[in-house]
Amino acid sequence: MSERTLVLVKPDGVKRGLVGEVIARIERKGLTLAALELRNVPRPVAEEHYAEHKDKPFFGELLEFITSGPVVAIAVEGPRAIAAFRQLAGGTDPVAKATPGTLRGDFALETQYNLVHGSDSPESAERELKLWFPDL
Ligand code: PPS
Repeated sequence: MSERTLVLVKPDGVKRGLVGEVIARIERKGLTLAALELRNVPRPVAEEHYAEHKDKPFFGELLEFITSGPVVAIAVEGPRAIAAFRQLAGGTDPVAKATPGTLRGDFALETQYNLVHGSDSPESAERELKLWFPDL
């Protein structure tokens, strides 16, 4: 059974030229790309995307960062796509949690600049895909 997840290559990944690396790992895993777009993130979209974190102390920084430059938004598809991409991404903290061999473990140092976002549940994936790719 196939499912879809939202992946973002965050502004740090785009600036560092790591979009190809992220896509290559998604494809090598056997997942497919259902939609892909480079875009700037308007503040209201950022607020809605991260709405569940609005009471966290780092919410302001999160919004500043995700709106600081273009992101690549990707709808990724395949069996267990949500969990499969989170496995490729590695844990949120790129040093304390992500292991070498994962995107964050291989390419990131700080939690704030952790390269990629992936939906964390079927409910989040549905909500995020509607926000980023309403016509999909
Ligand atoms: S929590 O508290 O467990 O719900 O947070 P978590 O799911 O680990 O992280 C939610 C997103 O916030 C980012 N994050 C941070 N940004 C800036 N500063 C700090 N301290 C920080 N901690 C977490 C984290 O990268 C998650 O972003 P996404 O895009 O969802 O991966």
